[in-house]
Amino acid sequence: MAQIPQYFIQDLLNRVDIVDLIQSKVAIKKKGANYLGVCPFHQEKSPSFTVSQPKQFYHCFGCGKHGNAIGFLMDFERLDFIDAVEELARQQGLEVPREQGKFQEKKEDFQILYSLMEKANKLYEEQLKNHPSRNRAVNYLKNRGLSGVTAKRFGLGLAIDAWDALLKYLSPSPAEIDMLKQIGLVSVSEKGKTFDKFRDRIMFPIRDKRGRVVAFGGRVIDQGEPKYLNSPETPLFHKGKMLYGLYEAKLAHTKFQQLLVVEGYMDVVMLAQHGITYAVGALGTATTPDHIRLLKQECPEIIFCFDGDNAGRDAAWRALKVALPFMTGELDIRFLFLPEGEDPDTLVQQEGKAAFEKRLRTEALSLADFVMTKLEEGLNLKSTSGKSRWISAFKPYYEMLPNGPYRTFLLDTIAKRFNFTFEQTQDLLNNPSKKFETPVLLDTHLSLEQKALALLLQYPQLASQDIRLGENDNLLMQLLVLIREKNLTSTGQILEYFREDPNFNAFSKLALYPYPDKFDFEAEWHDLLKKLSTRAESELEDLQNLTKIRKLTLDETKRLRELLQQRRLTLQS
Ligand code: GTP
Ligand code: MN
Repeated sequence: MAQIPQYFIQDLLNRVDIVDLIQSKVAIKKKGANYLGVCPFHQEKSPSFTVSQPKQFYHCFGCGKHGNAIGFLMDFERLDFIDAVEELARQQGLEVPREQGKFQEKKEDFQILYSLMEKANKLYEEQLKNHPSRNRAVNYLKNRGLSGVTAKRFGLGLAIDAWDALLKYLSPSPAEIDMLKQIGLVSVSEKGKTFDKFRDRIMFPIRDKRGRVVAFGGRVIDQGEPKYLNSPETPLFHKGKMLYGLYEAKLAHTKFQQLLVVEGYMDVVMLAQHGITYAVGALGTATTPDHIRLLKQECPEIIFCFDGDNAGRDAAWRALKVALPFMTGELDIRFLFLPEGEDPDTLVQQEGKAAFEKRLRTEALSLADFVMTKLEEGLNLKSTSGKSRWISAFKPYYEMLPNGPYRTFLLDTIAKRFNFTFEQTQDLLNNPSKKFETPVLLDTHLSLEQKALALLLQYPQLASQDIRLGENDNLLMQLLVLIREKNLTSTGQILEYFREDPNFNAFSKLALYPYPDKFDFEAEWHDLLKKLSTRAESELEDLQNLTKIRKLTLDETKRLRELLQQRRLTLQS
């Protein structure tokens, strides 16, 4: 059975909000930091089914069922794993890629994949310049106001209206045909015939940071469905990790003053034509943590541009949620909402560079303003109850913010807005929300390691703290590295990595370890690490003393070596 690649599953979990998913099937209501409802998995009168948005995890205190979005669908719809992933992907409008495995690891093969992409790109560009059937495409682009220079700068091309233009041009070997399928340039009919995937479309090559073509977006010429045909997820291309136009933008700037994130290919291209050469496109996907990381690496000033309609506002809100854990202090994220019916492409053509840039300066909402106004909807902030409802609504977002100057700044802004003191605001936000009545039945006698694991599973943001890692292979370090490398932000996401792992059940239990709402998890983390290292130190000392008395057994020698390595796990802060 073809495997579903883990990156896809994680990307999917990133996009799905478990609260939305469950809300569409079970009546749940916001209560404190969580959502609460009557459990769909067992008979009960008073609600004990909880859903945590920050953790992307559900748990019933009555029957003990728990899991992430995929697990919920498996339980609720009685689906197996693959079907649950398929269903979630379908809801998000995604196709589930399958890992072929064969070429994925080998470097040489990657190089062939890149060179095939490059060749295809060359053909498309050439066809837009010279093919006898080019006129319709050229006229279409001209009518939209696109210049030849811009088309060239972005390497725009044409896939002509034929089933085999690319296949003929490349005359690939059977192995190469296989690769063309892998990179999504060639499709296979039910009868097993291969044909060009992109036909009769204007081609936008998507380049990675190094300028290599890794995917295409193909626009129908004028009208038709689908408007854009995009390369699928391939070994070269992971949509959620890529921004259209970033390479071209980097060519135009040695250092960015700001980066503008827009939705469409045409937006990026047309903005560049009008001198706004620092725009990148999100390729039709919702903002992902990888996007934020990519942007942050380039420039700390980021402006997201969205439609002013409801869909645009929702997308912006989702982007905000993704961005919150990154708001340390250096990052400045703003949101620009465009007049309804306009997109950056049409707007910049109408009003030009200066007016558009003026919007960026004067109309873009700061993240703080956006949070405030969005949560204010329907509340009367002059009344105490309005204020207190605002505070509880804000709490989950507050909890997503990392410690640091930004959080302080935001607290201060809120304090001023509500006429509270800074300390009052802090107290209100740290105040425990109403606890659920049911006590959790869990063995609370955990070992130090288990406690540290539980903490990390539930507060993955701890993984980003500066700790020098030992090169040992214990579970805690593995988990830390995994969270860091994959940039995991919720319990639900982390557990997904362990679905097939012997530790899955143990980890799920630890993920339920009951921490109070008002809980200084950072202090606890530092304390645990300190205890772990003290304990290791004394064990180390014992063993070292033992060597003076007698020869160590094999096991003891192994343990000694482990401990010496682990010693390098020191807290820097
Ligand atoms: P036009 O101005 O109409 O050429 O398109 P656009 O580039 O402004 O795109 P639009 O704002 O309509 O959509 C934003 C992005 O979503 C596009 O650039 C694509 O990446 C993606 N998108 C739009 N339509 C489709 C579609 O039909 N299929 C897929 N897969 N993606 C699409
Ligand atoms: Mn458009």
